[in-house]
Amino acid sequence: MKPKLYMSRRIPQIAIDNLREVFQVKLNPFERPATREELLQEVKDVDALVCQLVDNVDKEVIDAASNLKVISSYSVGYNNIDVDYATSRGIAVCNTAGVLTESTADLTWALIMATCRRITESEAYLRAGNFVAWEPLLMLGMDVYNKTLGILGMGRIGQAVAKRALGFGMKLIYHSRDINPKDLPFAATQVTLETLLRESDILTLHVPLTSQTRHLIGKDQLAMMKPTAVLINTARGAIVDEPQLIKALAEKRIFGAGFDVYEQEPFIPKELLALNNVVLLPHIGSATIATRTNMGIMAAQNAIAIISGLQPPSQINVLP
Ligand code: NAP
Ligand code: GLV
Repeated sequence: MKPKLYMSRRIPQIAIDNLREVFQVKLNPFERPATREELLQEVKDVDALVCQLVDNVDKEVIDAASNLKVISSYSVGYNNIDVDYATSRGIAVCNTAGVLTESTADLTWALIMATCRRITESEAYLRAGNFVAWEPLLMLGMDVYNKTLGILGMGRIGQAVAKRALGFGMKLIYHSRDINPKDLPFAATQVTLETLLRESDILTLHVPLTSQTRHLIGKDQLAMMKPTAVLINTARGAIVDEPQLIKALAEKRIFGAGFDVYEQEPFIPKELLALNNVVLLPHIGSATIATRTNMGIMAAQNAIAIISGLQPPSQINVLP
C-alpha cells in the first residue's frame, strides 16, 4: 500500500505525476483553497501534506493528522505553518527555497519601475482616452538610475534584487541581522534599520514574516522615510502596518508604494485601492510558468525524500 498524501490545491501536473509514483494522492478538486473544515478532515489519515501559503497549518491541523510525517509547502515562506509544533511532533517541514528567487526578484523590479515611473497610472490615463497631447508636466515620477536602493533582509531574494540594481548604477545599503558585507558578491553597506529608512530612495522588503518582523514598518518608521521615497513589498503584507501606510500615502508623506502582498490577503482595504500613488499586484512574485513548475517539482521531491528516508532538497526544521 502506498502512503497517503493530501494536496490542498492543484499544482503543476508534473508534480502530481511524480507524487503519484510514490503516494496515493488526494487532491482538493475545487478551483479555490481548501476550507478549514476540508483541511482538518483530509489530513486525518495522511502521511504527507502538500500545502499552500494560504493554508493555516497550525497546532489544530497538525493534531488532526496523527500519521503525518511531512508538510511540504508550495512556497518559500512558511509563516503559515507552526514549525515548532511540527518539529515537536517529529514532522518534517519543507519549502521551495531557491527556485523562485530570480522570478521574485524580477517581479520586485517590475514594481520598482512601475511605482517610480507611474506606469499603471499612466496606462489607465491613456486607456481612459486622456492622452490628447504631449504634456510637459504629465506623470512626473522618480528616477531610479543612480539612486540609493535600501534592502531590508539581504537573503536570497534581497541579493538577487541587489544584483539587478548594479545595472542602474545604484548605491546599495541594507539591513539584515547576520549577513556580512564581505560575504556578498557586490558592494553594499550594512546599516541600522533607522539609517536604511532615512537614506533609501527606494526601500524594498525581503524579510520573512516572523514575530520580530510583524509591523516592522509602522508609523514611526514611515515617518523616517524621505518624502520622495518609494516602498516596495514583495515579502509579506503584515511586515507593514497597512493602515499607517495608507495614511502616509494619502498624506503624500512618501512618494509611492508598490505591493504584491497584503496584511489580510485577499482583502485589500478600499482606502488603499482608492490611492493612485500605489501599484498593487495579486501576490504573483513567483508566478512564471517555469518557476511554478520548478516549485511543484521541488515540493514533490521534498515529500518523496522524507517518506523514503532521504535528505530533501529544502527542509526548514531539524528533527531530533
Ligand atoms: P531568505 O533567503 O531566508 O532571506 C530572508 C532574509 O531576511 C535573511 O537573509 C535574514 O537574514 C533576513 N532577516 C530575517 N529576520 C530579520 C530581521 N528581524 N531583521 C532583518 N533581517 C532579517 O528568504 P528569501 O528566499 O529571500 O524569501 C524572503 C521572503 O520573501 C519569504 O519569507 C517570503 O515571505 C517572501 N516571498 C514572497 C514571494 C511573493 O510571491 N511575493 C515570493 C517568494 C518569497 P538575517 O538572518 O541575517 O537577518
Ligand atoms: C510566496 O509568497 C512564497 O513564499 O513562496
